[in-house]
Amino acid sequence: TWTIGNIAEEQIDRIREQIGTDGRAICGLSGGVDSAVAAAIVQKAIGDRLTCVYVDHGLMRKDETEQIERDFVAATGTRLVVVDAEKQFLDALAGVTDPETKRKIIGREFIRTFEAAEADIMKSAPAGTTVKFLVQGTLYPDVVESGGGAGTSNIKSHHNVGGLPEDLEFELVEPLRTLFKDEVRLVGEQLGLPPEIVWRHPFPGPGLGIRIIGEVTRERLDILREADAIAREELTRAGLDRDIWQFPVVLLADVRSVGVQGDGRTYGHPVVLRPVTSEDAMTADWARLPYDVLERMSTRITNEVREVNRVTVDITSKPPGTIEWE
Ligand code: XMP
Repeated sequence: TWTIGNIAEEQIDRIREQIGTDGRAICGLSGGVDSAVAAAIVQKAIGDRLTCVYVDHGLMRKDETEQIERDFVAATGTRLVVVDAEKQFLDALAGVTDPETKRKIIGREFIRTFEAAEADIMKSAPAGTTVKFLVQGTLYPDVVESGGGAGTSNIKSHHNVGGLPEDLEFELVEPLRTLFKDEVRLVGEQLGLPPEIVWRHPFPGPGLGIRIIGEVTRERLDILREADAIAREELTRAGLDRDIWQFPVVLLADVRSVGVQGDGRTYGHPVVLRPVTSEDAMTADWARLPYDVLERMSTRITNEVREVNRVTVDITSKPPGTIEWE
């Protein structure tokens, strides 16, 4: 009979065969469900011959790096290399406000960092290891969309994958290529991955870097991380996670407005709540969150995040708006 259990088993067997008894594989973890489940399956197939790489660019939301570093590793026993590249990314982003320039810089630094980590890992592999495998979380809809092709260096720079280098000489390993997203989540649950990873909403590769309108700095990231964490916590508490496609929280870092708190006048930043419903991110509608949930988000954010004195809700559909603000 068909169960999610034997879907995973089937893939584990197939990958064990593909990689052979001495092949080595590398997998980039993004923090999202696809790369995490793909890695977990390959880990089951080849154990420590898989090394995962997580580039910490400093643009993740609160607790996400720990979810990978600690909880994912605890759940799967995966060998993980974490590259702390926050300073490198923030230095490269200093003074930059244009959205596409931010994306280019983040993409470039990501590839550099990943390639350096990859070179280190291959150097420490036993002599004679010639075959290199790269694990990709390609899903069935992506396979169909790209004409079903797979093979060496056929790395599709998919919007969601985080943009891996185009010219790496790897053979691809794609444990999810027969699966749809909801099946990936079920396999993830079955493999015991943390629910925060399994049920994570889509999150852009450039992370919070494109949710700060204005220059990206450490201080601004910390402000946004706090506001975002509160919004997500209240959404979860209201039991609405699975009704929402995605929930960007955006910091208007170059805007200040006057407010009043206690007996003092404040001059702080607004944040924008951007919860949307969608099927595939191509079109989206603004989510009609219950007023009491919005109220809790607003009250908590303005009370708990000192620099934020105003909370607004984005009620624009896509089109004409995009989901992200940049
Ligand atoms: P927009 O804002 O264009 O976003 O409506 C559509 C979907 O794509 C995500 N997104 C990105 N994902 N790198 C990514 O990996 C990016 O540069 C990027 N920009 C937008 C966005 O979060 C939404 O899911």
